[in-house]
Amino acid sequence: MKKIFYISIIALIASCTTAEIPFAGAPVDRTVTYSQDIQPIMFNNCLTCHSSVNPRNGLILETYSQVKNSAQNGTLIDRMNDVANPMPQSGLLTPDKRALVDKWKADGYLE
Ligand code: HEC
Repeated sequence: MKKIFYISIIALIASCTTAEIPFAGAPVDRTVTYSQDIQPIMFNNCLTCHSSVNPRNGLILETYSQVKNSAQNGTLIDRMNDVANPMPQSGLLTPDKRALVDKWKADGYLE
């Protein structure tokens, strides 16, 4: 009996840590641009640590091309949706904000 208890605890812990898919948010049904949608998200949630003053990990997210580069060639979108290792570090942003970033990518990273 005890064994079953331990196995179920382990199963429970495992199910919490493995690849929980974050809720994607309501689909965005309009075109998303950097200046309208993405810049405010970066400004409010990322620049405390990723501005040119003491950028963490050397990553600066102040301009369109810096953010686009990190989204296209870096891990910006993955990290913003990474439950285990999120950016910002304090926890995932709301599904709506993350859906905007996904739509920005789908629309081709418009400025
Ligand atoms: C409280 C400080 C803090 C905030 C706020 C923050 N970051 Fe970070 N970020 C870090 C630190 C420290 C690292 C390096 C360690 C790591 O990768 O976890 C990092 C690493 C990263 C990386 C991976 C490394 C790289 O150079 O590409 C990305 C991408 C990133 N952050 C994006 C963001 C985005 C996007 C936001 C806002 C949505 C954000 N961060 C908000 C502190 C922060």
